[in-house]
Amino acid sequence: MFGLFKKGKHQRTYITDIHSHLLPGLDDGVKSMEESLEILTYFIELGTSRLYTTPHIMNDLYPNKEAHILSVANNLRKEITSKGLAIEVNVAAEYYLDEILLDRMDNDDNQLLTFGDNYLLFETSFFNLPFYLNEFIFKAKSQGYQPVLAHPERYAYIQDSYTLVEDIVQRGVLLQINTISLAGFYSKPVKKLAERLVNDGMVHFLGSDCHNINQFNALNEALKSKCYQKALDLPLKNYSL
Ligand SMILES: [Fe+2]
Repeated sequence: MFGLFKKGKHQRTYITDIHSHLLPGLDDGVKSMEESLEILTYFIELGTSRLYTTPHIMNDLYPNKEAHILSVANNLRKEITSKGLAIEVNVAAEYYLDEILLDRMDNDDNQLLTFGDNYLLFETSFFNLPFYLNEFIFKAKSQGYQPVLAHPERYAYIQDSYTLVEDIVQRGVLLQINTISLAGFYSKPVKKLAERLVNDGMVHFLGSDCHNINQFNALNEALKSKCYQKALDLPLKNYSL
């Protein structure tokens, strides 16, 4: 049953998480190795034995290089081993969609960091429909990536146009909503859109997007929400990781 969720009305075990910021010092996530290990301990208490952590790669704010991310992940794994924590931390990234990412996909020999079945997690501006979205989707698919849009429920341009998210899915993009959105962590409109996506079966992944202990606590609360329980009945791809 590794990585599988056992369903139950008050089940508190979390599924295999695919979105978090638990590598210290790389982005706006955890600040120290201690904080990272503390949060991983809480994930273990939720029954998690494996997760994927996904630092931001964003040109201006977090210009992380893949090799450095992998090296920090190795350091974290050494600490996990030395502390005897029973959790496997895998690493991918959350890519910000901009022209620089597209250029890299054209010119860079380095493979992008993906997880599972070459799933490529990406995020966009919170406000404006990305100018390069269709070009990115085409490029990603033609290069063998399976693009996964992080937290669509948080983007204003999708809140303003539900048909847009339907179109994005039709183009072959998978959707990952944040579990804490279902509990109203961000705002009522975000919660409403996340619930609509669950009700319409347009959720392919759930992710914690956990950046810190506060967000972990919110996750713990969100596991009680009815909509989270409903989301677990969808054929989430988390189950096959
Ligand atoms: Fe994130």
